[in-house]
Amino acid sequence: MSRKKIVAGNWKMNKTLQEAEALVKEVLSSETPGDVVKIFFPPFPYINSVSNLIYDYQNGFHCGAQNCHYNDSGAFTGEVSAKAAASVGARYVLIGHSERRIMHKEGPEFLKLKISRCLENNLVPVYCIGEMLPGREANKHFGIVERQLEEVMFNFSVDDVRKIVVAYEPVWAIGTGKTASPEEAGEMHSFIRNRIAHHYNEEIANAISILYGGSCNAQNAKALFATKDIDGGLIGGASLQASDFVSIINSF
Ligand code: PGA
Repeated sequence: MSRKKIVAGNWKMNKTLQEAEALVKEVLSSETPGDVVKIFFPPFPYINSVSNLIYDYQNGFHCGAQNCHYNDSGAFTGEVSAKAAASVGARYVLIGHSERRIMHKEGPEFLKLKISRCLENNLVPVYCIGEMLPGREANKHFGIVERQLEEVMFNFSVDDVRKIVVAYEPVWAIGTGKTASPEEAGEMHSFIRNRIAHHYNEEIANAISILYGGSCNAQNAKALFATKDIDGGLIGGASLQASDFVSIINSF
């Protein structure tokens, strides 16, 4: 099976340009496996600089954007298009991160459009899904995640959907230090893969990487990444320190 192993760092609204460059240089100078795709998601203003730093450094490093607009251009003050992000070196884009779903009220119609813009601009969408705490406590988490898949991702054709990366991020685990156990995460990842197989086919389901996110760190990454159907991680807080991020990359 040739599914990509991926470790991605979502820096959110952190770091200055100087701090960003120092972090990237430290990660690049560390020993990391070439068969793991490594992605930095810096704030927009640093994408160009980070991309330039990793440009000559093959070894599977890429840069991505934390969001994009659903139009290619126009009167949208303060927004950034997928096309613009691609033009400064982004190769991946986070779509539907829970912080944007909650704080910016991003719903399925917008998320579908954003994924379309990414695909048109040869960017890989990393589609983020996951339930909030009340959903988990009411034992509705599988239904919630299934709806998030159906409303957005399952509208795409077989050829397009295979280009998408999924990130399962239970919202109750994000930034809380309360990570999902390998069993909790693993059963959801298997559920997601089964739904993809059911809607498309086994071949597609086995080709799509499904990342875990939510308080994944240097201590728990090994057990999570060793779990069936978990193909890597989307890392927030622990991606801000080079040593932690490198040890997560080395956790496969
Ligand atoms: P966290 O964030 O690792 O700090 O929990 C993950 C994310 O929001 O992508």
